[in-house]
Amino acid sequence: MEEMIPNEGFPIAAKKEPCCVQTEAGKTYAWCTCGLSEKQPFCDGKHKQIEGKPYASLKVTFEEAKEVWLCQCKQSKNPPYCDGSHNQL
Ligand code: FES
Repeated sequence: MEEMIPNEGFPIAAKKEPCCVQTEAGKTYAWCTCGLSEKQPFCDGKHKQIEGKPYASLKVTFEEAKEVWLCQCKQSKNPPYCDGSHNQL
């Protein structure tokens, strides 16, 4: 069994800048909300190791293929999109 990570200081900023992603129409993406994932900005399941399991990925489906800027600092008020909050960190 995996060791649990203390539930303190989350979400953490994976990076203090957004990531540009080219989406595929109709595809569902799982955006990392805790900041632990090594597959930023997407979830790799690491949130399951945080004590109490208070985090889950945010699923988002794009109707059309387009370019989006996704938050990696995890402080955005409009997740999964970057809203500039990383500038306050
Ligand atoms: S990267 Fe999080 S708000 Fe910009």
